[in-house]
Amino acid sequence: MKGNCTVILAAGEGTRMKSQKPKVLAEVLFRPMIDWVIDCVKTCGLQDNNICVVTGFGKEYLDEHLPQSIVKVVQEERLGTGHAVMQAKEFISAHGNANVLVLNGDAPLMDSDTVSHALEYHKRSDSAVTVISAHVDNPTGYGRIVRDAHGTFSGIVEERDATDEQKAINEVNSGAYWFNCQALLIALDKLATDAKYRLNSAKEYYLTDAIEILRSIGQRATTFNSKSSDVVLGANDRVQLAALNEIARKRVLEKHMRAGVSIPFSDGVIIDPTVTIGADTEILCGTVLRSGTVIGKGCNIGPDVNLSSCVIGDGCHIVSVYGEDAKVGADTSVGPFARLRPGTVIGKDARVGNFVEVKNSSVGDGTKISHLSYVGDADVGNNVNIGSGCATVNYTGKEKFRTTIGDGAFIGCDTSLVAPVNVGERAYTAAGSTITEDVPSDALALGRARQVIKKDWVKSKKPYKK
Ligand code: UD1
Ligand code: CA
Repeated sequence: MKGNCTVILAAGEGTRMKSQKPKVLAEVLFRPMIDWVIDCVKTCGLQDNNICVVTGFGKEYLDEHLPQSIVKVVQEERLGTGHAVMQAKEFISAHGNANVLVLNGDAPLMDSDTVSHALEYHKRSDSAVTVISAHVDNPTGYGRIVRDAHGTFSGIVEERDATDEQKAINEVNSGAYWFNCQALLIALDKLATDAKYRLNSAKEYYLTDAIEILRSIGQRATTFNSKSSDVVLGANDRVQLAALNEIARKRVLEKHMRAGVSIPFSDGVIIDPTVTIGADTEILCGTVLRSGTVIGKGCNIGPDVNLSSCVIGDGCHIVSVYGEDAKVGADTSVGPFARLRPGTVIGKDARVGNFVEVKNSSVGDGTKISHLSYVGDADVGNNVNIGSGCATVNYTGKEKFRTTIGDGAFIGCDTSLVAPVNVGERAYTAAGSTITEDVPSDALALGRARQVIKKDWVKSKKPYKK
């Protein structure tokens, strides 16, 4: 794809989304639609500096969202898709005699195979323009692919201009095209200057008119028919957005199932397209795996798990867990009802049980934190046992301090470890202790008031109740 470039149209408002943000930032599987489109062209081998996005409505949101290295041009007034591409004239002419891919920023299901195969066909057929088309069940709203009596592609007619006969055509324009750069520049000039095209029924500059223009000067226009009709799908409102999400969700789940992941009941299972999962892992209902997450082989994940940027080793059991930016070693069990906050690294064969929260801490191999504890800003060694109801007291209200617990230590139930504090290897803390000083290895630390028994105290007290 070297030398080629792409122009992505993203200036539209998307009125029916009823959003302050540009439509292309609406999300499919937690990723803005424009990111899907950019991923697609990058998979085809295009670099950021060969990608030009036409922004307009809500441009400040896109300026913030898109990397600086992507070229941006602004369409001040929304005068149609042809006008949008005109804003990128300089960018297109800088690409000499290469080819330019024009894409709609709101069609996230366009895929890199279709785009690459369309380019091969475009070159092989020596076309000035190749329109990616698809056959759809319901063509309403799309531009129709019009052919002459010999079946030769003659142009695209928009819904509003189509005759009843043309409206029945179910081959539609996806809004994605490969143009020879020079041919497109010629067509754009003609589109801007020829009254026939300027003053159409919509008072817009239609990019689709480029087909007729190029054909009229003896250039070749062809269509590349996509195998999947999903490539044309865009979202004009949030109902259509939900439909796109469902298609994308099912595609991702199918990909994993074919790769050996069990998803026996897919209710509420939502997996970001960048997530990887090892074979023989089973994913149960209500599991949401967000970007940056990697799951090993032979795990049981779910029900009710939400992970973002988490790396889970092989053979783990993760049930009812909310995790962010955390790493879990092989054969470890987390949950039910546990929270792993950013900076958590848990070793192998460990256990983080119910109602346990771990934050910015390392927890060694074989360590067990089975119930109702908080471990924050701590370095916990291997084979440590942390009893029920323990807390690292890491925050003074101003500053945070770390707690260190050596290998094989035993932290009794309801111990408060007031940081900064170190508990040595194999040391014990007595249940209910407040540990404010370092505990040497192999020692027992007791940090609690001695128990006092007041004999017959109840009898001497005025009865509370008769
Ligand atoms: C367009 C095509 C239609 C095709 C359909 C596929 C034209 C005239 N029609 O129609 O044949 O079937 O896409 O989805 O091209 N945009 C701008 N500036 C503008 C207008 C639009 O940047 O002034 C952007 C939008 O943000 C959007 C894309 O261009 O990403 C397509 O615009 P839209 O108005 O949705 O085009 P359609 O009418 O759907
Ligand atoms: Ca559209």
